[in-house]
Amino acid sequence: MTSTQTAQSENPYLNGFLAPVSAEVTATDLAVTGHIPEHLDGRYLRNGPNPAVEVDPATYHWFSGDGMVHGVSLGDGQARWYRNRWVRSPAVCAALGESLPGRPNPRAGMSSLGANTNVLTHAGRTLALVEGGVANYELTDELDTVGPCDFDGTLAGGYTAHPHRDPRTGELHAVSYSFARGRTVQYSVIDTDGHARRTVDIEVTGSPMMHDFSLTDKYVVIYDLPVTFDPVQLMPASVPRWLQLPTRLVLQSLLGRVRIPGPIAAWTNRGSNRETRRMVGMPYAWNPDYPARIGVMPRDGANRDVRWFEIEPCYVYHPLNAYSEFRDGARGTEEVLVLDVVRYSRMFDRDRRGPGDSMPTLDRWTINLTTGAVASECRDDRSQEFPRINETLLGGRHRFGYTVGVDGGFLAAGEADLSSALYKHDYATGSSTVAAIDPDLLLGEMSFIPNPASDSADPVPPAEDDGILMGYGYHRGRDEGQLLLLDAQTLESVATVHLPQRVPMGFHGNWASTG
Ligand SMILES: [Fe+2]
Repeated sequence: MTSTQTAQSENPYLNGFLAPVSAEVTATDLAVTGHIPEHLDGRYLRNGPNPAVEVDPATYHWFSGDGMVHGVSLGDGQARWYRNRWVRSPAVCAALGESLPGRPNPRAGMSSLGANTNVLTHAGRTLALVEGGVANYELTDELDTVGPCDFDGTLAGGYTAHPHRDPRTGELHAVSYSFARGRTVQYSVIDTDGHARRTVDIEVTGSPMMHDFSLTDKYVVIYDLPVTFDPVQLMPASVPRWLQLPTRLVLQSLLGRVRIPGPIAAWTNRGSNRETRRMVGMPYAWNPDYPARIGVMPRDGANRDVRWFEIEPCYVYHPLNAYSEFRDGARGTEEVLVLDVVRYSRMFDRDRRGPGDSMPTLDRWTINLTTGAVASECRDDRSQEFPRINETLLGGRHRFGYTVGVDGGFLAAGEADLSSALYKHDYATGSSTVAAIDPDLLLGEMSFIPNPASDSADPVPPAEDDGILMGYGYHRGRDEGQLLLLDAQTLESVATVHLPQRVPMGFHGNWASTG
């Protein structure tokens, strides 16, 4: 067990069910209420920020915390183990007094932050993921850190927290951004051997924060939105006052506008010492002068093939799904692109500690690729995030989507006032249902895991919502962390795994099936 001091403060991202935990725990043979389906053989893994040292609550940004992965192993109807482990970035190793695992690899990206945003398995590897040009890390099956990951030297300068797996090929598609890439972002395809087989540099207006993208059966859809790199946030506090203005001018003239060689970017933002950690805030901010656009590129296209569509200024972290289809229109058969997203009207404008400027709603953009017309509508104005679907349908038409609702605003209210909900949206009927969960339970993201297909000789195609929703919750009344398994058709509980400690509200998780 490793312990460090954790901060207690008025920063909402350091308190309540968001508060970091201070220990790495291993527990086996966990107590279960209900029945874990026998076919679930694997690990549920989820990443999130969890500072390993005391941080300044006045400047701490939720997105900058050291990465910690929480995992539960399931098999034979049992909950075999729970583990939580910090991802061993240089800063975490320094805090824990450990040597670095693996070799330093500046090609893999910057090390100013830990890999704190997502975790998944691909080509036999468990990967802790982050964005913005920061290095990703490979983990063992038991969540120990192996070292930085650059896909065996095939992808430099950092990856993304939100790759999308093509359900037909098993390949990972992604769009990576970094201030070190200048005015470009990079689309990449990682093959089933874990190597980049294709990259495309796409020109954008500046240096946007591009957290996620959409992948359809035919298109790559990118969101070039007005949250952009703010280089002044990277200026060290140690720069003398008389040098701050010229330093700021140099930073503004270079960073985010020109391409910076990977090793230099890695050095300038290495982040393992106290001074550098103090200055790590959020180097992206709302930019009212930046045009909001959606870019659409054929999957096998190039930069010159991208079509751009202007939209109202807003920000999107997470699309739910996207697809294109043909419809009858004024010009005969017209191709229409449907983008379901969680949309914020503003982001990182006044609130620089987290996503608190506006409430996220479930919206749909419809882009008529034949006429160029763009339409938008709010499908659900309740505050919600973490959209997921049955990802065997990713890129094609979906009927159901699952989101986590946060009443009182996303983290805007105190913990006592905060309540969460699980919404199931039916795009066929336009209706939604709310899971009847215990009001003392606060939910994080819920992943969809399809049930196995029928073994019969004439199998009936499985229903889209035939599966399990799985994710962590925190039960306030019991002061207990839980892994929740719900029936995606009924939203009723299938099983609850009782964990030995609270799992802080974090970011993204996935089911990693064994074999
Ligand atoms: Fe995300």
